[in-house]
Amino acid sequence: MRARGKFLKTIFGLALSLPLLAPAQSPLAWDAMSKERTAVVGDEKIPFTFSVTNVSTQEITINRVSTSCGCTFARPPSQPWKLAPGATGEIAVDMDIRGKSGVLIKSVNFDATAPAPPLIVKVTIPPEVFEALNGRMRNQQLAMNDRQAVFKGDCASCHATPTVGKLGQELFAAACGICHDTAHRASMVPDLRAPKVPTNKDYWRMWTTKGKPGSLMPAFAKADGGPLTDQQVESLVDYLDKTIPSPAQPSGAPAVNKQP
Ligand code: HEC
Ligand code: HEC
Repeated sequence: MRARGKFLKTIFGLALSLPLLAPAQSPLAWDAMSKERTAVVGDEKIPFTFSVTNVSTQEITINRVSTSCGCTFARPPSQPWKLAPGATGEIAVDMDIRGKSGVLIKSVNFDATAPAPPLIVKVTIPPEVFEALNGRMRNQQLAMNDRQAVFKGDCASCHATPTVGKLGQELFAAACGICHDTAHRASMVPDLRAPKVPTNKDYWRMWTTKGKPGSLMPAFAKADGGPLTDQQVESLVDYLDKTIPSPAQPSGAPAVNKQP
């Protein structure tokens, strides 16, 4: 029994490490049956892309794609996903590693009109990545309870002190860029450089001074418990209004001809 388990494990391991040996009868030829990555500090979501070619002479329909974990999201180009003979396509697979540690191996399963073995994604989370991620989650949790927490206690050393005495662009980097312009922007933090609604000075002033209750966006005005003086707020408002172009006023028609 034990020997057989070991044997199967070896075969399974081989199939994983030598993707080309994966079931040859599947008419779906993937660039790899398994992919792996090691998370680095700042990662929250590990993206993978698999590309496939239908090497048969029949159309293949992938009716449903599912994954072995709520932490893993597969995004086929469409559902159902039809692949004509010879057609190629790509599926994006993201693994959310928040709250996870160690080595994660997840599968992406297909319900298709032809044999379609699962794809495997493997992510290794080194201890320092786990620590950084969980420290960040603790901070988010604290800010969830009190969005002004970023300006208090230990948080102030990164989120408030660096704003002291700064104006304009420099102030933006210290006060706002820390959340909005970071390479590791959290999913709930929007991209300030691509506003979804028309902007003007009032827009920037309102968001800067008041933020948004019930979110992680704090109020920066001194009057609202923030670190910024009126002069600092106005310098930011001028800077933002000048540097970030306002999108056009939405009209009835879709903006298909909009210039970039
Ligand atoms: C050592 C500097 C530092 C300290 C201390 C710090 N932060 Fe941050 N914080 C950052 C950076 C940098 C980011 C941008 C995200 C990133 O790069 O990890 C950030 C982002 C955030 C975000 C946006 C969501 C996110 O995860 O990106 C929140 C909310 C936040 N911090 C709250 C807090 C709170 C609350 C504290 C105190 C308990 C705190 N921070 C302490 C540096 C710090
Ligand atoms: C602690 C992290 C953090 C900091 C620092 C921060 N923001 Fe935000 N901001 C957020 C989050 C989170 C949201 C999303 C709020 C929501 O749920 O709608 C947001 C939303 C916004 C929005 C709305 C954008 C949109 O497209 O919906 C604006 C504008 C904005 N912030 C401006 C600023 C400015 C200006 C600063 C600096 C003075 C700043 N933020 C600093 C976290 C932060």
